Amino acid sequence: MNINTLKSLIHTFGPSSKEDAVKKVIRQEIKKVNNVEIFEDKYGNLVAHIKGNGPKLMIAAHTDQIGVMVTNIDKNGFIRMGEVGGLRKSFLVGQKLVFEKGIEGFVYYEDKESSWEFKDLKIEKLYVDVGAKNKKEAEKMLSIGTQGVYKPSFYTVNDRIIAPALDDRIGCFIGIEVLNSVNPKKLNYDLYIVFTVQEEIGVKGAKVSSYEITPDYGIAIDVTDSGDMPETTPVALNLGAGAAIKVMDRGMIASKSVKEKLINTAEKNKIDYQLEVITAGTTDAYAIQITKSGVETGAISIPTRYIHTPGETIDINDVKSAIKLLKKFIEK
Ligand code: CO
Ligand code: ZN
Repeated sequence: MNINTLKSLIHTFGPSSKEDAVKKVIRQEIKKVNNVEIFEDKYGNLVAHIKGNGPKLMIAAHTDQIGVMVTNIDKNGFIRMGEVGGLRKSFLVGQKLVFEKGIEGFVYYEDKESSWEFKDLKIEKLYVDVGAKNKKEAEKMLSIGTQGVYKPSFYTVNDRIIAPALDDRIGCFIGIEVLNSVNPKKLNYDLYIVFTVQEEIGVKGAKVSSYEITPDYGIAIDVTDSGDMPETTPVALNLGAGAAIKVMDRGMIASKSVKEKLINTAEKNKIDYQLEVITAGTTDAYAIQITKSGVETGAISIPTRYIHTPGETIDINDVKSAIKLLKKFIEK
């Protein structure tokens, strides 16, 4: 595995609808893959197609990340924002954001009582100080509609990887690794690996891509909540215990054929896996599954702590398991 590829994916700016730089990194990493045809659809999804004899398989990983959008700049140059995707608002306070053109600022909270205890925290009460003296100065730096994300950071410690936007740059990374290691002559499927756009605002890229491709089978690669933090929602997933094979999430019940084939592939090849049932959140698989008359669809997830915060945490062994599982699924 080339961990530097993941690092550069993490350091690339890409909130929903502004994924171009991320797609550029991916193109660079997959352009030498044997027999690959790379194209973008009108909506912006980046598709890597390797022609194979067999049913069509669409694998999806999303390129976008959650973030904010500037809604207002006040007379003193303070920035107000709205959310793009499902932000966990209380985690914003005190964080550094980076906006388009590299503008940075820390997030503060309107605090009339100076108590620093957030009662009914609303995003409208948060503001960013980008170091502007007044509105005019701020408007030279950003404008209404400018998007921002958590300032990237990336580090590994023991077997753990900690970074914002692992949702879902880790899925993009897995897609890149699979493309670079798969043997085109051994494909079970006509393979489409789609790096989708705008997942975080309603699985939109996957919807149009799946409609265009009309696959026979679908698999999404994304993060999912782990349940191994103190006093957290009881989810039967642990970091380092293997790739998660989805049974159900908020948006779908995985199709039996794909789920069972993934389980059998993991068992046969002695790949660590866990079964995923979560009651919040969904993935591109939700969109793929209900395309046209229906697509047999499942998902492989990377158990992740603190999703949609700057400290998203995963275990490298689960990533290795996911790559191996996908490869064995795809190849004869
Ligand atoms: Co997400
Ligand atoms: Zn995701």
